Amino acid sequence: MPTTDRRRLMELTGLMPLSATTGCADPQAAYRELQDSWGGVAPVELEPGVHAWLVMGHHELCQVVRNEQFFSCDSANWRLLQEGIVAPDSGLGAMMFPRASAYFADGDQHRRLRSPLDDAISSLDEHRLARFVRATCADQINSFADRGTADLIGEYAAVVSIMTVAGLFGVNQDHQAALRVALIAMFGAESEAQAAAGKEVERILGDTMNARRTVSSDDLTSLFMRHSNLRGDAEVAEATVLMMGAGYEAVTNWIAHTLRMMLSDARFAGRLRGGRLGLDDALDEVLWRDPPMPNMPARYALVDCELAGHQVQRGDALILGMAAANADQRVHTDDPWLEIGNRAHLAWSAGPHACPAQRPARMITRIAVDTALHQLPDVSLAIPPDEVQWLPSPWSRCPASLPVRFTPRTRPRN
Ligand code: HEM
Repeated sequence: MPTTDRRRLMELTGLMPLSATTGCADPQAAYRELQDSWGGVAPVELEPGVHAWLVMGHHELCQVVRNEQFFSCDSANWRLLQEGIVAPDSGLGAMMFPRASAYFADGDQHRRLRSPLDDAISSLDEHRLARFVRATCADQINSFADRGTADLIGEYAAVVSIMTVAGLFGVNQDHQAALRVALIAMFGAESEAQAAAGKEVERILGDTMNARRTVSSDDLTSLFMRHSNLRGDAEVAEATVLMMGAGYEAVTNWIAHTLRMMLSDARFAGRLRGGRLGLDDALDEVLWRDPPMPNMPARYALVDCELAGHQVQRGDALILGMAAANADQRVHTDDPWLEIGNRAHLAWSAGPHACPAQRPARMITRIAVDTALHQLPDVSLAIPPDEVQWLPSPWSRCPASLPVRFTPRTRPRN
């Protein structure tokens, strides 16, 4: 369809809100609808009056994330923000307003802020981390094993994830519940809750940093405080918020989707339980079908350019449509056996900002899923799969809860 006709159609029909792709029963149907009308890149609405491009083609997404000279991570380049069309208290702020972290930086500035993140990941003692995660999963399961019912999001995936991330940074146990509530609010959609949550996270990180000033430790807070690339407490706090936020949300979602697919898709569960699909292949299949971060903010065009036949203007925001790009037929075959081992998905993104934590994220998720499958006998979903509700967010798609039942553990008699 010529660009002018598309523009008229856009004016007549309005745009699909981005949150419609995450909150609906079948996201791939929503992405297909957009692709049928617009092709590999479609205009969407982030909030009323705030438009952006959703990049859905695998090739186009790679082009955008690999060319920082044309597509910047720094939202100071976002025209709608410069023009005041996005309100200062917008719910988009937490994910899209400029911050002094690697996620919002390009070129040399990004490499300076990224190297502490890479150093943090490579400093991890994987055996110790695995022991910690295994113990955390077992403790959580013990807390509900004799009940015969549980919510595998609120009582398991989210708790294992926050306790692990908080553990890496040495946040003490008294602060962990508050940290979780604050991180959920911070990356949610409510602007008022975000402001309060931001202050709460600052308070918790401030307490942790103050404790480390007196007694240093081998946790990541101490590593960041010692790191010569981070200038002052503000950059230490920004790097910590970035890692905690990215880690908490993505790990929760990856555990949640793997367990959800196990419990609601008989073919998936059958292949996994029947040994035809190893747990790592199952985790990869989830990264393809339901990536933990299905839509990610953002890149900002530094020049006028054409993308998938559309005129992108300097200052336009481009949202990274990981879930849509993963379904692009150009990177798939019709043979399911050839798909096993294919890791060309974009769940981790690509280019300089690709996730630095792929290895520990897989280890944490693998242990959490494996422990639940082994320690909850006859576990099954307690509601029909199509009644699963989704937490509201334009960026991620996490079940609000995953109620399950299983054979309760009988306590040994004394
Ligand atoms: C569980 C699965 C995870 C997935 C699917 C995932 C996905 C991603 C993606 C797609 C990006 C790149 C976004 C872009 O190109 O703009 C990213 C960046 C990042 N992730 Fe992950 N992530 C996961 C887990 C984690 C964990 C556990 C941590 C930390 C503990 C983490 C820390 C980060 C950081 C710090 C960045 C920003 C890097 C930069 O801007 O240079 N992620 N992640």
